[in-house]
Amino acid sequence: MTADSSNSPKASAASSAISKTSNEMWGGRFAERPDAVMEAINASIDVDKRMAEQDVAGSKAHARMLAAQGVISAADAEALVSGLEQVITEIRSGAFPFSRALEDIHMNVEARLKEIVGEPAGRLHTARSRNDQVAVDFRLWVRDEIDRTDRALADLQRAFLAQAEAGADLVMPGFTHLQSAQPVTWGHHMMAYVEMIARDRGRFRDARARLNESPLGAAALAGTSFPIDRHATASALGFDRPTANSLDSVSDRDFALEFLAAASICAMHLSRLAEEIVIWSSAQFRFVRLSDKFSTGSSIMPQKRNPDAAELVRAKTGRVTGAFVGLSTVMKGLALTYSKDMQEDKEQTFLAADALDLAIGATLGMVRDMAPNAEVLSKAAGAGYATATDLADWLVRRLGLPFRTAHHVTGTLVKAAEVKGIGLEELSLAEMQAVEPRIEAEVYEVLGVENSVRSRVSYGGTAPDQVRAQIARWKGLLA
Ligand code: ARG
Repeated sequence: MTADSSNSPKASAASSAISKTSNEMWGGRFAERPDAVMEAINASIDVDKRMAEQDVAGSKAHARMLAAQGVISAADAEALVSGLEQVITEIRSGAFPFSRALEDIHMNVEARLKEIVGEPAGRLHTARSRNDQVAVDFRLWVRDEIDRTDRALADLQRAFLAQAEAGADLVMPGFTHLQSAQPVTWGHHMMAYVEMIARDRGRFRDARARLNESPLGAAALAGTSFPIDRHATASALGFDRPTANSLDSVSDRDFALEFLAAASICAMHLSRLAEEIVIWSSAQFRFVRLSDKFSTGSSIMPQKRNPDAAELVRAKTGRVTGAFVGLSTVMKGLALTYSKDMQEDKEQTFLAADALDLAIGATLGMVRDMAPNAEVLSKAAGAGYATATDLADWLVRRLGLPFRTAHHVTGTLVKAAEVKGIGLEELSLAEMQAVEPRIEAEVYEVLGVENSVRSRVSYGGTAPDQVRAQIARWKGLLA
């Protein structure tokens, strides 16, 4: 927004098109102007001007429908549509004088429309209320945001896929409790995020499908006596159908909550990767190197490369989840239908959407650029007796031991190696046979991390062939 002097309550009172004694849109029975504090708490224009495109689109559809139904004349509808087009052009140019005295985007647009087209502007609000208007605008905005988010998440999946493909054979430690558990591959780990993000996208898609009904024409809360065509406005705005209950249409914000819930879960996933990146990029781990573009230095410690982008992605989750909690808290105490409390829905949703957007963008940049350190990863993969399960499995497979017994034998061998401060594969055959006499030299084959990983051929397992099959499947899906 530029030329913003009208945003101060005093300036706008003096300069706006509204009357000095009361609000022109609703002030018929009012003798006094609102107090400056009233205006400040009531105005939402600083926030909801972000819905200008949606507001104008909704109004154009409404005007055309009113004319088609004979509620207003064709000439009036034409004047309204071209006037609305001028308004949106002015808004896009940044020169639009938004006014807080006019409260919100709906009244700012209408007041300017009146200056442009005169009397017909007053007919636009026939068979409509700001209650259904804001519900339409906000649904359209959330729908657009879901579509943007979906495209960004698909790009992120492609970046993980590229990492997975390049590192399908690269062994690394798999962790449980952040303790070395079993060796896995880098490709497998990257593909885990492809799956998570696929479900995130699915949640956004589900939310979009339920959201995609038009509340326009619910009017204030009870519907209208004018012969409107809600199916026409619904389809003009790309909705699947009109909503079926006018009270519900103006009073619910579950579509925004579903968006925020999906966004929270997605942000949580990004945050887990961010946490991994913070750990992986530390001097102690050195699993990955982040690019200069996604690292920062320290002003006092010259050696440092800090993973600030990852830390901020991790932190942004707080905003997104906070918005969900904030809006559900606003909504939970409201009797049907609309209450002004609901005006607080947009700021939280916008902040959350922006935070998620940034988090996805920063994650995309880091994932694209990060370089796994093959040598360190494979060395770490074998540390911490990570192939102990392979040894136990071998005892089951080759010697027919019950798994519980094999587990115990292996535990004894791990202890023996630990006492000597060596790896399992460094125990001599004699040392192994002292614990279980039937162990043969062949056992050393399963003690290597490469063999361990290659043996995990169960569907969805970490064997490179399994991972490659998943990569191929996803390449098809993301093409
Ligand atoms: N700015 C309002 C909001 O965002 C628009 C709806 C106003 N409705 C009303 N009855 N005052 O919720």
